[in-house]
Amino acid sequence: MSIPGDRQHFWKVKQWSWMPGVKRNLIYAPLWNKRHNREIRLSSAMNMGTLPSRLHSVLLLLYLVSNLAYMFALNWGNENKYSFLAELRGRSGTLAMVNMVPLIILAGRNNPLIGLLQVSFDTYNLLHRWMGRVVVLEVLLHMIAWAVVQVADNGWAGVKEKTFNDRFIGSGMAGTATLVAILILSLSPIRHAFYETFLNTHIILAFVSFAATWVHCVTATVPGGLPQLPWIIGIFCVWIAERLARMFRLAYCNWSRARGTTTAFVEPMPGETCRVTLSLPRYVDVQPGTHAYLRFSGVRSWENHPFSIAWVEHTTEDELLPITEKDIGAASSSSSRLSVKKPVATSISFVIGAQSGFTRQLYNRAVAGTADRRRPGITIRAAFEGPYAGHHSLDSYGTAVLFCGATGITHQLSYLRHLVEGYADGTVATRRVVLIWVVRDFESLEWIRPWMDAVLKLPRRKEILHIKLFVTRPKNPREMASASRSVQMFPGRPNIPMLLAKEVHEQEGAMCVTVCGPGGLADDVRHAVRSCQRERGTVIDFVEESFTW
Ligand SMILES: Cc1cc2nc3c(=O)[nH]c(=O)nc-3n(C[C@H](O)[C@H](O)[C@H](O)COP(=O)(O)OP(=O)(O)OC[C@H]3O[C@@H](n4cnc5c(N)ncnc54)[C@H](O)[C@@H]3O)c2cc1C
Ligand SMILES: NC(=O)c1ccc[n+]([C@@H]2O[C@H](COP(=O)([O-])OP(=O)(O)OC[C@H]3O[C@@H](n4cnc5c(N)ncnc54)[C@H](OP(=O)(O)O)[C@@H]3O)[C@@H](O)[C@H]2O)c1
Repeated sequence: MSIPGDRQHFWKVKQWSWMPGVKRNLIYAPLWNKRHNREIRLSSAMNMGTLPSRLHSVLLLLYLVSNLAYMFALNWGNENKYSFLAELRGRSGTLAMVNMVPLIILAGRNNPLIGLLQVSFDTYNLLHRWMGRVVVLEVLLHMIAWAVVQVADNGWAGVKEKTFNDRFIGSGMAGTATLVAILILSLSPIRHAFYETFLNTHIILAFVSFAATWVHCVTATVPGGLPQLPWIIGIFCVWIAERLARMFRLAYCNWSRARGTTTAFVEPMPGETCRVTLSLPRYVDVQPGTHAYLRFSGVRSWENHPFSIAWVEHTTEDELLPITEKDIGAASSSSSRLSVKKPVATSISFVIGAQSGFTRQLYNRAVAGTADRRRPGITIRAAFEGPYAGHHSLDSYGTAVLFCGATGITHQLSYLRHLVEGYADGTVATRRVVLIWVVRDFESLEWIRPWMDAVLKLPRRKEILHIKLFVTRPKNPREMASASRSVQMFPGRPNIPMLLAKEVHEQEGAMCVTVCGPGGLADDVRHAVRSCQRERGTVIDFVEESFTW
């Protein structure tokens, strides 16, 4: 942190000659060609989701193959078909329960593995989806292995009779039916088209399937229930704990005895966007790169949506601390005490682009509710659940290149301020920060104008920060005057490979390239980072902030 960028050479050059190749061909590689984050759409309404990366695909393949191996390591020499089916039934049921444990842990926002392993919620969500598919297939196999024997014994009438009159079989059938329903409702086009409906039914059906599995384990004729009973109890406890953690966070962040509850000031902005500032009634520590789930009173209050935290301000109050040991515990005068600023409340700001659901309603309400033209906007009650993520620290990189498109600026802005302040304070190793922001029109600058003004006024900012703004559809190209050498504006889309090659040429220390914004932009940046790995062999890491599902 104390040495200049040109002396961070050890961190700049690769220590393992094979590392750039691994990054290029495995870690950062899309499955195929260039596409990863850009969604596959059959039509405007048919969204098929995204493709997993190459590393994710390898992990998923290993997971699927291992499940196949555990499933079919059976006594194939068994000549008794029914005894073989009993073995298959036991194996598939057990495997389904085994897989349910990570299935539930990885689905949670409060999954402790996110911070511990610094792996994003997005990746866990991908694993969750595949584990879910495997669990449903295993449960189906479990049911079929039972039904074949039952049909041979008593015909379909026997299956029906047991399903409706035997609690053990009935609960098993109910669990299977709910899991199959979950599978069908989570098919990509349905999930994308009706996300909120999908989410709510998913949660209810998951709850029903846990309850059915629990009853299934308890009502077995085995004394004390099936041996898998403690697992389903464990799964249920993890699920409930995660839900409680959310509620606790919500209650903690949004209510304080001294300052009441959270309110939000929602300002309509150009480009159908809102700038939203939440005033939390207590101090909340917020790291760069975090996001939170927001709810607003009167705007589909039952829904909560994730948004990146762009800007944070803390309100402080004077607190008197004792200076000497004698002061401690003594009601001494304030003159012998040290006055320090204690943070007591936090205001957190977001930029929210209007899509077609919750965000559109919020924008419409802000426009319709504006009474005072001099200060457009409305004040409404809101709730903040977070902060989540924030596990990618850029503090150790000599160079940080931050790409963003449109509202993706929110994610990058939090790093910008932190790195520039850290540079001035000597608390980060970063010596060069380049922000490349792509927007449709010039008016979008208004979204973040007060915060950008604050960043531009930070001490020693000119030594470290370079901003390149690309306006792809400027109404008036004459507006495109660069303010200075460190803040430049260009019309049209950026030439990402060229920009990145220039940064690699000027790289100080290790470099991190991050991107947040439209899928196509993220894929282009990923592609350029992979190309640079081959050319130079310096240390270039890549972080994509996204939600690919
Ligand atoms: C970590 C994270 C941070 C984000 N930060 C920002 C931000 O700073 N500013 C911003 O404008 N947008 C941000 N988004 C996107 C934002 O969450 C969605 O645009 C918003 O949820 C759409 O709500 P809607 O009901 O208007 O969507 P719809 O119009 O119904 O759908 C628009 C798109 O948003 C997706 N979507 C809907 N609900 C959710 C949800 N709960 N979670 C994720 N995606 C959803 C839909 O699948 C669809 O692709 C972020 C997303 C994530 C995952
Ligand atoms: N933390 C997060 O995950 C997070 C945070 C904030 C926002 N977001 C997401 O960020 C996205 C913002 O996108 P949007 O739909 O609002 O953006 P958009 O308006 O579609 O695009 C923004 C700008 O990016 C340009 N662009 C698009 N693809 C490009 C490419 N391949 N190369 C260069 N420039 C490109 C566009 O240029 P043209 O005009 O030429 O098309 C446009 O100027 C949303 O999907 C939002 O959900 C995510």
